[in-house]
Amino acid sequence: MKLLIIHGPNLNRLGEREVDIYGTLSLDDINARISEHASQKGFETDFFQSNHEGEIVDKIHEATQNGTTGIILNGAAYTHTSVAIRDALASVDLPKIEVHLSNIHAREEFRKHSYSAAVCKGIISGFGPNSYLLAVDAFALDA
Ligand code: DQA
Repeated sequence: MKLLIIHGPNLNRLGEREVDIYGTLSLDDINARISEHASQKGFETDFFQSNHEGEIVDKIHEATQNGTTGIILNGAAYTHTSVAIRDALASVDLPKIEVHLSNIHAREEFRKHSYSAAVCKGIISGFGPNSYLLAVDAFALDA
């Protein structure tokens, strides 16, 4: 079983970007934690980060061809803007979980709406890097 973890725009800046909100771990640190946790639960992992909407759409489509069994997506700002990513998720017949480091419902009004939430199995938001680990656990409970 292989989980594809997709990180959206500006998440390559984790560790330096708004550390009061997103914490001091870099994306590599977080990916290492996800990889270790997923491996303990019997999952392989594949990681992808992009600052470009179309590249994220392409990666979601590719998931149907490369043995991916589930997608964990932090669409970052595209969560709140992208119909294209929402439609890409809807087009692939795989379970998907949306995650956020911060609690998007406890922040600015514009972050409260997610285009992708309705086409995902569920959302995990507000647990910092553990949001990703909880998503792995959700897949493990269903496996
Ligand atoms: C985020 C929340 C988004 O609103 C924001 O645009 C991000 C990160 C999070 O993980 O908390 O870039 O997805």
